[in-house]
Amino acid sequence: MTAILPHGGKLIHRIAEGQEKEELLKASCRLKQIPVNAWTISDLDLIGNGAFSPLEGFMNEEDYRSVVSSMRLTNGTVWSIPVTLPLNEETARSLQIGEQVALTGAEDNVIYAVMNIESIYEIDQQFEAQKVFKTDDPEHPGVKKLLDRSPIYVGGSVKVLTRPKPARFGDFYFDPSRTRELFQQKGWKTIVGFQTRNPVHRAHEYIQKSAMEIVDALFLNPLVGETKSDDVPADVRMNSYLVLLENYYPKDRTFLGVFPAAMRYAGPREAIFHAIVRKNYGCTHFIVGRDHAGVGDYYGTYEAQEIFSNFKPEELGITPLFFEHSFFCKKCGNMASSKTCPHPREEHLTLSGTKVRGLLRDGECPPPEFTRPEVAEVLISGMRTQVTS
Ligand code: ADX
Repeated sequence: MTAILPHGGKLIHRIAEGQEKEELLKASCRLKQIPVNAWTISDLDLIGNGAFSPLEGFMNEEDYRSVVSSMRLTNGTVWSIPVTLPLNEETARSLQIGEQVALTGAEDNVIYAVMNIESIYEIDQQFEAQKVFKTDDPEHPGVKKLLDRSPIYVGGSVKVLTRPKPARFGDFYFDPSRTRELFQQKGWKTIVGFQTRNPVHRAHEYIQKSAMEIVDALFLNPLVGETKSDDVPADVRMNSYLVLLENYYPKDRTFLGVFPAAMRYAGPREAIFHAIVRKNYGCTHFIVGRDHAGVGDYYGTYEAQEIFSNFKPEELGITPLFFEHSFFCKKCGNMASSKTCPHPREEHLTLSGTKVRGLLRDGECPPPEFTRPEVAEVLISGMRTQVTS
């Protein structure tokens, strides 16, 4: 194990194995079957494997209200994002507190988990939206998701019976217990976690490598759960990470493993959540750059960094590493940020996401100072496959 403790002190394990699993599976056939979507199945798996430690299930009413209002569980532990199970009114009304139910895949009927119903409650979606996303604009992708769901939540502990099988890149799925073990075997004492939902462009590479100068290793931990439809698909991104690591990163100081969670787009609050989860995977440090987990103009450029000042370092237990907006400066002839570059904006190479997507769609590589050519090629061919499939 790495020296760093999981959030809340111990790594949660809520995955039934062996005889317990057999017995629960048998018993679960007689339970009420509640179909859940892919997002919930991914939450279940991350609760089960301890990535969401100290959560042992979906939040009950008290923890939910406390997290939404004050970014803490009722016992005071810092937690910034509600992890909840919304159910339609009819289903929710049919449940009793104390009952055990089976959570099944809406698509495949597989029994993914059993859940103990400890709490059934109605929430105020506008309030949750304002507190968690800082807006109730239905155009915000996180708010949209929230408003599309039922306002009736059920809370309670879970036991996972079946784990979702990755369609591709299965070799890059590691449970937190495993990453902790591997980091230790490699002799790494300080590990910086990097969250991303994008291809790694030069700015990402720059902040990763700046961090690598002061820690033992980089854990490149791309989020591969549900993202909004205009984000680059996870499969294409995975190929782009592989070529990048192969060509530009030291193999003995980098580790690639996916984070199979859904993207919330909650900016500042999600930065706290992302950091805590990476601590559970065994990271000691976590990178927070500009507009972390942001979308559109909903959050200030550095709000996701400023939010960390609400907590004492020991309450988080992982050290955030903050980076300014980074870019290639033509005058400096290298990557830089406003902290290191004295030149005016005109000297900085900045390309909007829309511009980059346009170039790639036309089969053109963005400048190498923006994206490594190997990465651009993967993205171009990924876009072609998307168009033709
Ligand atoms: S995120 O939604 O996962 O945060 P993205 O994959 O773009 O989006 O960002 C991954 C990390 O890199 C985040 O910490 C983000 O703040 C940081 N980042 C992205 N682009 C830049 C940039 N140009 N300068 C500094 N930090 C950046």
